[in-house]
Amino acid sequence: MSSSTTSNAGSTPSTPNLSEELKISSKLRKFSFSELKSATRNFRPESLLGEGGFGCVFKGWINEHGTTPVRPGTGLTVAVKTLNNNGLQGHKEWLAEVNFLGDLLHPNLVKLNGYCIEDDKRLLVYEFMPRGSLENHLFRRSLPLPWPVRMKIALGAATGLAFLHEEAERPVIYRDFKSSNILLDADYNAKLSDFGLAKDGPDGDNTHVSTRVMGTYGYAAPEYVMTGHLTSKSDVYSFGVVLLEMLTGRRSMDKHRPNGEHNLVEWARPCLVDRRKFYKLVDPRLNGRFSLKGAQKTVQLAAHCLSRDPKTRPLMSEVVQILKPLPDLKDMACSSSYFQGMQADRGGVNPNARNGNRSQAGLVPKNKQVNRSLTIPNGQNASPYHQNYSLRSPKPPRLSEE
Ligand SMILES: Nc1ncnc2c1ncn2[C@@H]1O[C@H](COP(=O)(O)OP(=O)(O)OP(=O)(O)O)[C@@H](O)[C@H]1O
Ligand SMILES: [Mg+2]
Repeated sequence: MSSSTTSNAGSTPSTPNLSEELKISSKLRKFSFSELKSATRNFRPESLLGEGGFGCVFKGWINEHGTTPVRPGTGLTVAVKTLNNNGLQGHKEWLAEVNFLGDLLHPNLVKLNGYCIEDDKRLLVYEFMPRGSLENHLFRRSLPLPWPVRMKIALGAATGLAFLHEEAERPVIYRDFKSSNILLDADYNAKLSDFGLAKDGPDGDNTHVSTRVMGTYGYAAPEYVMTGHLTSKSDVYSFGVVLLEMLTGRRSMDKHRPNGEHNLVEWARPCLVDRRKFYKLVDPRLNGRFSLKGAQKTVQLAAHCLSRDPKTRPLMSEVVQILKPLPDLKDMACSSSYFQGMQADRGGVNPNARNGNRSQAGLVPKNKQVNRSLTIPNGQNASPYHQNYSLRSPKPPRLSEE
């Protein structure tokens, strides 16, 4: 295991065995660098949509069916991801993205329109997702995301994972399921993005794929971190973590919380196993505007997905069936007397209370790393993952590289 995926492990390879590595889908458009440069208006800061561990993402406009850049506001709006100099690891993830997403077409997977490979430049061109990432909506906006919308997003994301695991021609393990990789269209339809860590599922009689441990702290399944044995049930665990994030409005890792609350799953476990305590988990910012039955079902489902034994975790198709009715439930907790009892039981201690949130929203640092730092008992510097972690990159600490 080496440090983080942001480290510069080796230089970017040149392109000689590209044809071997890159099985380009005929569906993909091949862009030249200059086309993408002018589509994004010279990668100007006003076009910047966000920045991840591998580079910046810019908004751009291209011809509906070709690769020609067009005037902003016309043609097809796209998101152009530029890979920084991330060496071999960056190139591998770029390749995986092109190879997986180039082949996969589903309403809950972000569409890859095309790519650019020119000298050491690597870019990806996606459909533009107007509402950005789930992470932004859950943790960076001052208005809480309404409950039915959270459930709609959970259902969409689960459907995407179920497709990868159970319906795609070759089963795919996604390996990097987290709220920043769930993108939202104008109607809050969820689409999975970032297939850089995706893996083909086990073939033949194999029960798992053996890999170096990669992923993101706080989301990766414990047995995968321990053994490197990857199965689709590792994705199911990560889905459980994101479901908990949606339920609680808390990040999977948050060192700004009091001791004992840094790791969301550890904090939530006692309430996951005791059904009477489920309401302690519900995001207080919702102020009772959530379905009681829906929240109960969500807690049970999260507990099931987060089972310590991967074999007892559900299939994603089962998760989809459980989630299907939840966006439409209308039994709002705030209109029940039960809710009053819940409020009283919660007492005054509420780290997510309105004031807390307001100040939190105001203080959210530009650099995501601060919020998403790896929490370990001996402090950040004791982490081997911290050392190579570039401050310029807001990518959350990841688990290693291959
Ligand atoms: N297709 C898209 N449409 C609109 N915005 C996008 C699109 N893809 C990415 N973004 C924006 O760019 C940001 C950065 O995305 P990126 O995938 O590079 O990093 P990340 O998901 O935040 O972190 P990581 O590097 O760990 O995946 C996203 O959070 C999102 O706001
Ligand atoms: Mg991402």
